[in-house]
Amino acid sequence: MHLDDIPQVMAIERRVFSLAWTSGIYRRELTANPWSHYRVLRATVASLPPLLAYGGIWQMGDAAHVPTIATHPDVTGRQLGSYLLLKLVLLSIEMGCFEITLEVRASNQRAQALYLRHGFENVGTRRRYYSDNNEDAIIMTRSHLDPTQVRSELIAVETQLQSIWGAETAGRLLPRTPSHPPD
Ligand SMILES: CC(C)(COP(=O)(O)OP(=O)(O)OC[C@H]1O[C@@H](n2cnc3c(N)ncnc32)[C@H](O)[C@@H]1OP(=O)(O)O)[C@@H](O)C(=O)NCCC(=O)NCCS
Repeated sequence: MHLDDIPQVMAIERRVFSLAWTSGIYRRELTANPWSHYRVLRATVASLPPLLAYGGIWQMGDAAHVPTIATHPDVTGRQLGSYLLLKLVLLSIEMGCFEITLEVRASNQRAQALYLRHGFENVGTRRRYYSDNNEDAIIMTRSHLDPTQVRSELIAVETQLQSIWGAETAGRLLPRTPSHPPD
């Protein structure tokens, strides 16, 4: 994610989050938080929104935290969230993390389904975590991160993306994940 992505990030952020971050928060995250690493999925075909999804991790010693992840509302349910999430998990492994954690609203079934789908487990609750409606947060963690396992999940998602988006689009959207880390 680059600073000039922030307007497109905010266009999605305001549509999908009731407690949306400000552009100032993203600017600080990108310029003043050495532990933060944000990634975006960019479309390379004009028929798609230029920025399809975004998310990040905070590297906190040998554990990672996902502060946010979102897919453009016009393209949800097509495995982009899964692809980005697994790429963030792999990034956290490459940074030496052995587990990755996040908070999700108790009412956000779709996001919980995404995380459960990709190996996260419900490990606890933060009471009245969200300041807009005092909603609880579910704490979800994927631990004992295994790069080979994550790579094989990514390859499976890439295959699904090919069938969902068509080889042409998916082929131009995504570099293939190698089954083994480069030497
Ligand atoms: C949560 C979110 C990132 C999922 O992104 P996505 O691109 O739709 O995710 P995927 O297409 O990879 O779907 C992955 C899983 O999510 C769940 N999911 C996706 N769309 C769903 C839907 N419409 N209804 C129910 N579950 C759904 C399913 O379990 C799905 O797995 P499946 O397709 O194999 O059944 C996206 O819905 C979003 O941006 N939500 C708003 C922002 C948000 O809540 N972010 C998370 C904050 S903690």
